[in-house]
Amino acid sequence: MKILLIIGAGIEQGRAYELGTEMGYRVVGTDMNPQAPAFEIADDTIQASTRDPEETLSAVITYLQNHPQDTLAGVITLANDVPVTVATVAEHFQLPSIGIPAARIASDKLLMKKVFQENNVRTPSFRHVTCIEDVQAAARDWHWPVVLKPIDGRGARGVLLLDETIDLPWAWQESMSFSTVGKLMVENFETGPQISSESMMVDGKCYSAAFADRNYQRLDQFRPYIIEDGGTQPAQLTAHQRWAINDLVEKAALAMGITNGIVKGDIVMGPQGPCVIEIAARLSGGYFATDQIPLATGVDLVKLAIILATGGMVTPEMLKPTVDYGVAIRYFFPPEGTIKSIQGIEKLADICGVRKSLIYRKIGEYQPMVKAHPDRAGFVIAMGAGREEAQARVEKAIAAIEFDVDEPGDPVAPEEG
Ligand SMILES: Nc1ncnc2c1ncn2[C@@H]1O[C@H](COP(=O)(O)OP(=O)(O)OP(=O)(O)O)[C@@H](O)[C@H]1O
Ligand SMILES: [Mg+2]
Repeated sequence: MKILLIIGAGIEQGRAYELGTEMGYRVVGTDMNPQAPAFEIADDTIQASTRDPEETLSAVITYLQNHPQDTLAGVITLANDVPVTVATVAEHFQLPSIGIPAARIASDKLLMKKVFQENNVRTPSFRHVTCIEDVQAAARDWHWPVVLKPIDGRGARGVLLLDETIDLPWAWQESMSFSTVGKLMVENFETGPQISSESMMVDGKCYSAAFADRNYQRLDQFRPYIIEDGGTQPAQLTAHQRWAINDLVEKAALAMGITNGIVKGDIVMGPQGPCVIEIAARLSGGYFATDQIPLATGVDLVKLAIILATGGMVTPEMLKPTVDYGVAIRYFFPPEGTIKSIQGIEKLADICGVRKSLIYRKIGEYQPMVKAHPDRAGFVIAMGAGREEAQARVEKAIAAIEFDVDEPGDPVAPEEG
């Protein structure tokens, strides 16, 4: 049988497993965790770290030696920043992929920015920093605020918005604690509306299926951490702005060497026009590719990514929206502490337009202080006729859930007796 290999078997990846099966493939998943949620719906599993390309490749080679009746048709991932692992397996078996060099660029924010700069792709000013004085010098050159971040981060871990009041030694240590390779960079903080785009490159041309406004209303609440509270589709963009973002993402992808494949953009609509913060060379997480985009536009990028990865043809027509609905996602932000109760979950079923919700914490678990996206406590996705209706519905749903939390420092009730 033909195998579709999916790198990673987390809960957000489940949709790719379902689709792979629907499309007639034998779906084999890889993950380090033998209890990974999507393994339950896989036809078979391979235990290997998704972040270790060599370990994954050798495990896949062994697996195929033991299953001579099967052939590998394609390899994909979603919601998991492991482009080098995907490209390494794909290249070994001569399957379609963005290639290892492009995957390496996508995994190193500093290298990516250099490639953008060399190719005149508009991106915020940036530099590698090796000490606190380098950060101060950058802020002198560009003015505060600046963004300090690990070159190998994901999920906004260690991404800090610094102004002149920041305790720089603390910020340095905090950001560095999230870098596996021990390297930081600083960027000019580009002001303007933030947009998420998700597109597919087909034969060197970019086709953007969706644009969402990212909601940073809580920026001041969590500063210096840069925490997003969801997004809304359709984005408030003119046709010309959408074209300009598509053009920028195309330039960025070509600069990285990507002519065929998914490209997910973090974009800021800066004073001089759109500016790219980074491009991820994979399907997005946060249920954007799997749920939010299909609900809003009718385009199923996960399916198209499987077609592309298995050598099939994707035409521009397949990337054109067929519907135009409002879709919004918002997150839960309970205070830090031990969760005593969560109430109101049953109300969600009665709120019109709610399409998906998930609460990551259980009663008795500790809700950490929110420093990065995985610290958020869960989400709701709602849809409506347009963006306002979707937003009103999602906000109503978020407000319906009450977290009762034992906050650190809460007075402890005196013991009886
Ligand atoms: N130079 C900048 N100017 C404006 N906003 C920025 C800048 N750098 C980062 N941000 C904001 O912070 C977010 C997280 O930064 P970045 O994408 O570099 O980190 P990440 O760890 O890859 O996060 P994620 O996985 O959420 O994309 C960006 O998506 C953007 O909203
Ligand atoms: Mg990012």
